[in-house]
Amino acid sequence: MDIFEIDGPTRLSGSVEVAGSKNSALPIIAAALLAPGVSNIPNAPDLADIRSMQMLLESLGARVHRDKAGLHVDATTVDNPVGDYDLVRKMRASICILGPLLARCGRVKISMPGGCSIGDRPVDIHLRGVKALGAKIHLENGYIVAEAPAGGLTGAEIFLGGPFGSTVLGTDNVMMAAVLAKGTTVIESAACEPEVADLANCLNAMGAKIQGIGSPRLVIEGVKRLKPVVYPVIGDRIEAGTFIAAAAMTQSRLKIKNCDLNHMMAVTDRFRHIGVQVESNGHGCEAALDGPIEPADITTQPYPGFPTDLQAQFMALLALARGNSVVTEKIFPDRFMHVAELNRMAANLRKEGPSVIVAGVEKLIAAPVMASDLRASAALVLAGMAAEGKTVVQRVYHIDRGYYRIEEKLNKVGAKIRRVSV
Ligand code: EPZ
Repeated sequence: MDIFEIDGPTRLSGSVEVAGSKNSALPIIAAALLAPGVSNIPNAPDLADIRSMQMLLESLGARVHRDKAGLHVDATTVDNPVGDYDLVRKMRASICILGPLLARCGRVKISMPGGCSIGDRPVDIHLRGVKALGAKIHLENGYIVAEAPAGGLTGAEIFLGGPFGSTVLGTDNVMMAAVLAKGTTVIESAACEPEVADLANCLNAMGAKIQGIGSPRLVIEGVKRLKPVVYPVIGDRIEAGTFIAAAAMTQSRLKIKNCDLNHMMAVTDRFRHIGVQVESNGHGCEAALDGPIEPADITTQPYPGFPTDLQAQFMALLALARGNSVVTEKIFPDRFMHVAELNRMAANLRKEGPSVIVAGVEKLIAAPVMASDLRASAALVLAGMAAEGKTVVQRVYHIDRGYYRIEEKLNKVGAKIRRVSV
């Protein structure tokens, strides 16, 4: 088990490079199952979650390997459409093999995804979508079993909205099931996240016919077969936002390469409101703050609204604002595991229902803290770089799921983070 020891406060300077998007790469690795042959994602990030997906695909019969040309998925053989409990429970995103396996094999058995520290993770909308395409679903001791009719899936008009708005992986699953269905599928209330658009563009590069990409209404004309593809994913906008927050919390200027501010307008709006300078520089952006952190209200929403995956990082930043902020979580109401940990560092945060009142304080004080989910862990690293003293973050494996050697990237620009195996 690794921990991080972080000396603060530190100033940062220089440039960091954002990796390929984890949340693009995961469904696109699953999409490779739709086409016999070898697909390649040249810039698939080397993360624990990606390695979990690799193991899952190999358990289905595919072969996956990484070399300097990227991640290669050989889906020539997919002869075991069973998402094993021990593999699926590790990572929620495993659910996105449902659509491709239904389309490719006509049958899939996948364990119900477990909950995680950001709350329960239902898949009812995923199942509503594939049922509309003709799949029969039943539960079998903790497994979802989905079977397509003998003649395959048939296109349909499907509303995919839920109590929290659209669903990212639900849209991915239904899209991947529909691309090989007979006839046309219309998905209304589709998720519009850039990572969903990236998957749709990848599917079209494989020979699919998807229109309305990036909009809440997708029209998919089923085709007979798809071909393997070489497809680089977009930059990780959440990693980019995390690095901008790092610059702001440490009163620094950073160049952040490989991020597209067009995918982050709700985020840059809030950063600029707080007083952070964020400017595009052609191959990414430059972020700087040298002065007070202004308070700001944040409400997480489906894209193009403010992303829930940056809620914890912004809460760490706003903990140092000169005034009160309100952070409201509308996607995962339980996604506040970082509140108690930040309060251990002398933040002044009070949970009020779906919101947290953030009373800004002069400074944070180092403390031993516990990582809980991927993005909460990132918030604790940011807080540790700004706090006075040595912060110890336990359970660093959470952060390794979504950030490739974050301590190496941050130390290169001036942070003092030591990874220690205990
Ligand atoms: C994706 O999860 C991301 N994961 C999450 O990022 C991200 O936080 C989330 O989208 C929201 O943007 C990946 O892309 C791998 P949802 P997903 O279905 O698709 C409810 C990270 O840190 N819902 O869009 O699982 C659900 O409970 C991760 O990288 C249903 O009610 O999220 C939630 O409240 C964390 N029924 C809301 O919808 C369903 O069938 C949005 O969830 C599906 C979802």
